[in-house]
Amino acid sequence: MRRTILTSLIIILTFSSWPSVVAAVEQNLQARLEPGRRIIPMDFGWKFKLDDVKGAEQVAFDDSGWRELDLPHDWSIEPESGGFRQTAPTGGAGGYVPAGIGWYRKHFKLPELAHGRRVWIEFDGVYENSTVWLNGQYLGNRPFGYISFHYDLTPYLVDGENILVVRVDNSNQPNSRWYSGSGIYRHVRLIVTEPVHVGHWGVYVTTPQVSAESATVAICTRVENEGTTLMKGILRSIIIDIDGKELTSDESDFELNAGEQTELQQQMQVNSPNLWLIEKPVLYKLRLVVLGDGKPLDEVNTAFGIRKIEYDVDRGFLLNGKQVKMKGVCLHHDGGCVGAAVPIGVWERRLRMLKNMGCNAIRTAHNPPAPEFLDLCDRLGLLVMDEAFDEWKIGKTTHGYNKYFDEWSQRDLTAMLHRDRNHPSVVMWSVGNEVREQPRPGGHEVLRKLVEICHREDPTRPVTQGCDNIAADGGSTTLEFLELLDIVGYNYVDRWHERRELYYSLDRHAHPNWKFVGTESVSVWGGRGGYSLGRNLNIVRPNYTSGMIRAEQLWKFVAMHDYVIGDFMWTGIDYLGESRWPSKNASSGVLDLCGFPKDSYFFYQSQWTDGPMIHLFPHWNWSGREGQVIPVLCYSNCDAVELFINGKSFGEKRLEFPRPGNSGSWARYERPPVYGTTADLHLSWDVPYTPGVIKAVGRKNGKEVCNAEVRTTGEPAAIRLSVDREAIAANAQDVAHITVEVVDATGIVVPTADNLVQFTIKGEGRLIGVDNGNPADHDLFKADKRRAFNGLCLAIVQSTRKPGKIHFVARSDGLKEASVEIKVRQ
Ligand code: GAL
Repeated sequence: MRRTILTSLIIILTFSSWPSVVAAVEQNLQARLEPGRRIIPMDFGWKFKLDDVKGAEQVAFDDSGWRELDLPHDWSIEPESGGFRQTAPTGGAGGYVPAGIGWYRKHFKLPELAHGRRVWIEFDGVYENSTVWLNGQYLGNRPFGYISFHYDLTPYLVDGENILVVRVDNSNQPNSRWYSGSGIYRHVRLIVTEPVHVGHWGVYVTTPQVSAESATVAICTRVENEGTTLMKGILRSIIIDIDGKELTSDESDFELNAGEQTELQQQMQVNSPNLWLIEKPVLYKLRLVVLGDGKPLDEVNTAFGIRKIEYDVDRGFLLNGKQVKMKGVCLHHDGGCVGAAVPIGVWERRLRMLKNMGCNAIRTAHNPPAPEFLDLCDRLGLLVMDEAFDEWKIGKTTHGYNKYFDEWSQRDLTAMLHRDRNHPSVVMWSVGNEVREQPRPGGHEVLRKLVEICHREDPTRPVTQGCDNIAADGGSTTLEFLELLDIVGYNYVDRWHERRELYYSLDRHAHPNWKFVGTESVSVWGGRGGYSLGRNLNIVRPNYTSGMIRAEQLWKFVAMHDYVIGDFMWTGIDYLGESRWPSKNASSGVLDLCGFPKDSYFFYQSQWTDGPMIHLFPHWNWSGREGQVIPVLCYSNCDAVELFINGKSFGEKRLEFPRPGNSGSWARYERPPVYGTTADLHLSWDVPYTPGVIKAVGRKNGKEVCNAEVRTTGEPAAIRLSVDREAIAANAQDVAHITVEVVDATGIVVPTADNLVQFTIKGEGRLIGVDNGNPADHDLFKADKRRAFNGLCLAIVQSTRKPGKIHFVARSDGLKEASVEIKVRQ
């Protein structure tokens, strides 16, 4: 191994050894300038037909009448497909949308630079059952709709026009318990390398030793020689910090005959590392350069974090030696009104909202996410439980993954591990969710194989599975099954009998060596801003005054027991599907489909952040109920909250969790021994309704630290707009979210408003989705109008590839209109 300081020289050489890429690349292929390897987005300019077309894989096929579109693309939510219908083949599970078969064709010319080199096509995800051809040659079929995969195009490429064809078959319905989307719903790219290169997903970087003083970075790189001659070369690895400074490097020699590959192990030290922390997730860059005959042949850049993860039987999860309770949420992969084709900006807004709630962990229920989702979690400092499957051999849906499990599961799981194992955010693998094998004799043998694969491909992270029915009267998960898990994952730990009070404690007592995590737990449920006051026997779910009790009691247990790693509640955000008509989406989220917070969001914020914060509900527009008693509730992390109605106090109530005992000596308290007025984690007052203003004043140590007000509003008078980003990038992918509020004459959101709002957009942007969070609204997501729901609706706009401005106007009959402008920058 050699160390050298010639890195910058190599980079200069690397750049100059390639012709001018941009000039050579066909207009719709934008190459990313990375020496030695070209990554060329293939998202733009596809032809599409929603039909099963005969012979469309053939080169000579005439697609001139097909629609042109850009990827990512999800046809299930497009108006052309037919919208939400109760009779749709995906059923309530799939969100009442159409599915079917679609064909994509992409004509492209290879850039000069690709000649004589290897060319791969990489798909991040196609739902589902994709078959790919290049120039009429069959490349392969991939059933699993959530896995990333690639094909080597090299043998079939031609000098002139190439035709890449993808058939997507989502016609076997139902095949999912939630909304899947249909089509090439994630990104696609070409990767061009020299014949001698780093293999696909061929980099594995870990940090086996981490302290404040130094860290060891271990790298395992697969180098392949797909050329025709022996190659003697060097693999050079460089660690670069956040400021672009090269910290250290290492070199390994290799010698590969044509057709051979090898794995090279390297180790480097980083002194005084900046650790990857939830509060400050510092990322380093690993640059790998393959040199052959003195020339740079390939370069791969991988972001990684320096961090130590430990799981302790008594102390739960430790990040860099510090105990961290996982305050987690489960998330499905759809982005609401954009369906499954989710611009990363949509996730960024949603995940930032969850972070502000105090959430620090995500479970990717129940499938591998888009790769850029994990990049985002790396960047935002979110821990991830990366999950592979919802079904194994025994199905849950008629045409689900069970059909492919035997043939594909090992390959799919390995692909997920290879793709995702460099992400510092990923701290745990999950190989399944509530699989039907759990209670079956022999079911654990299926699990054993999956756990072995995880351990083989990534010994640094533990494996779990979301097990339900652990204490069920019949059909409970077998002990053999549970004992194979590194961490026993509980779905709904409090579901059975006395476990609603005892939670994990019985199993902890019986199995002192187990590690425990709540893979899935009950949350609060319910629509945003909806409050049922009457005694409606058709409403099975408890109303807003008691729906939170189970979540509150569970959190108390999780918070007070160090051995419980944490909890992932179901769910952080509402998701399409798993619904019963007229609902088209599940309402378990603390954010609705638009990403607007429900009251329950503030419950978690009160427990998961230090605040001070206070949230008061319901709204105070109860015309016709004057004099009737209405429960007013509040979430807060203050010690005490006093409620005022129109200036009159209804008394101070105290929250106290955990309750303090004596300190110093018997009958001495850190605080006066006045116990809180509730064992719940919310406060509640029953007050007679009079219109006006309700106000809650939050106090800590007797001093006011925050307050909240809810007012009776007037009639809707105007629209108010706000936008999350003032400027977005001119790349036809970046997005801005416009929140539309219906307000009264004094500017307060009218909490019951449902006005229809019409949108006009001009300039360098287009509307890619509109929504209001109402599960029972069946209007199209791809539209230029939306009815408000409880005062709000949302429009998502996306840039074009031209810099300029987007001018957005919202109008509604009888309301004052509003507009916003968003810059679109190069
Ligand atoms: C769980 C399941 C989730 C979802 C949830 C609905 O049992 O793991 O995928 O179906 O129930 O409440």
